[in-house]
Amino acid sequence: MSAPVVVTIDGPAGAGKSSVAKQLARKLGYRLLDTGAIYRAVALAAQRAGVDWTDGDALATVARDLAIRFDWVGETNHVFVADDDVTVAIRAPEISQGASQVSAHAPVRAALLDLQRRLGAGGGVVVEGRDTGTVVFPRAEAKFFLTATVQERARRRTAELEANGKPVDAEATLREIRERDERDASRDVAPMVAAADAVLVDSSRQTLEQVVESLAAAVAARVGGR
Ligand code: DC
Repeated sequence: MSAPVVVTIDGPAGAGKSSVAKQLARKLGYRLLDTGAIYRAVALAAQRAGVDWTDGDALATVARDLAIRFDWVGETNHVFVADDDVTVAIRAPEISQGASQVSAHAPVRAALLDLQRRLGAGGGVVVEGRDTGTVVFPRAEAKFFLTATVQERARRRTAELEANGKPVDAEATLREIRERDERDASRDVAPMVAAADAVLVDSSRQTLEQVVESLAAAVAARVGGR
């Protein structure tokens, strides 16, 4: 393949974005920019600095000063903030809640826009997260909107919870995913929409390997002539 490019993967929760983005980055030999991890890192850094998750302006300062970097350690994309490995800490349930609150503040999103663009500079990167193909990298060479039926996403989420030994109510899981879709699509700040030039990929009836294979082929086709 010729010049390394920017590849974006957006889509609703449960469509397999993270797994697909990771495998695709490995296959292409690209870096992986997990934008959700950036919002999580802001929530964690704010908590450590005593900044409230409701204080948009103070959070924007935390976001602007965030010395974050990603690095592969074996098969895992590690996240460092000022040389502190926060890969595990940012996945705590409390930080998930914090990241969700933090991501709703427009000043935080504005501050992180610059940061994400700097981290993606030079290409050779798979960028994963909502709004990456629309707002953050509108000129990305290859954009994908990964989706799956709400039933399939609920089934995967239920299986994941069961595998972790958690009690699961399949009906409630389906209902939650529907509600989240509705909220995500209708919110004022960064609603979930596919970029007009994104390739829509439905993963409902495909294995992870099949999806990654078809995305890699699509990237090659897009950049082949460059
Ligand atoms: O994908 P995730 O769970 O790691 O994302 C953490 C939070 O950040 C989640 O509430 C969605 C939000 N987010 C966002 O608003 N924009 C992005 N590009 C990525 C994540």
